[in-house]
Amino acid sequence: MSVPIQNKRPGKQPRTFHIIANWKSNPASLKDLDRLQKAYMGLRVPDGVRLVVCPSPIHQLIEAGKSIYIGAQDVQVAAIGTGSWSAEMLQSCGVSYCIVGHSERRSLGEQDIDVKKKTIQLIEAGIVPIVCIGESFRDDNGKYINIIKHQLQVVSKGMSLAQAGRMIIAYEPVWAIGRGARACTAVECYEVVQVIREEMSRLIPGLSVTDVVVLYGGSVDSMNAVEYLESGLVNGLLIGRASLDFQQIKSILQKVESLQK
Ligand code: PGA
Repeated sequence: MSVPIQNKRPGKQPRTFHIIANWKSNPASLKDLDRLQKAYMGLRVPDGVRLVVCPSPIHQLIEAGKSIYIGAQDVQVAAIGTGSWSAEMLQSCGVSYCIVGHSERRSLGEQDIDVKKKTIQLIEAGIVPIVCIGESFRDDNGKYINIIKHQLQVVSKGMSLAQAGRMIIAYEPVWAIGRGARACTAVECYEVVQVIREEMSRLIPGLSVTDVVVLYGGSVDSMNAVEYLESGLVNGLLIGRASLDFQQIKSILQKVESLQK
């Protein structure tokens, strides 16, 4: 499937929402994988929603259907082969999107400069990079904003307007990810999302704030999903745990659909 990534001005209809299901290293058994794949293939994806599933590469890739795009969870940074895969391989397997810079990869030593190299490789292979950024904690002096800006500066350095326009940014505050984490509020999300739009537009001449596609990720579920889209003014969601629960993802899609009306 070719990769559409046109952006719509936040707040103006119709909005296009990206809903990214990050299955991480789940499910553990092939039986559960089969169940989950079948459930996803039976989903009705509303108009204006791009549902992207990012399964583990060791699993048979879910079959890209008319309405489901396939994403990868990472790509290799250089021509070092063991245990990784190239952007070209992903592209030839029908992968349309790829997460890079996830905090779980950064915690293993991935640096901003690696994230940048991966991003460029993906863009060159025609795959949309979903670049994760986010602070580890929030201090009272607003230093977390500088961390966000620095991550954007490294990844976008030397990028052309066309390249920047192919990239999606996922704001994922590290403190809001995973079991037991406190979800970021829509107000906290909104503040950083505005910074991301303004900083990207400052860094890339010609890129307007409304052209910057920003997602939110971190403890998203069917109860809070709509708040991020409505009050956080993001263009979509990056969902971990809740994407493994079919009822949750179904409910999220239904709620997103009602926003389109
Ligand atoms: P979570 O994970 O939704 O389970 O918090 C989000 C992510 O890691 O991308």
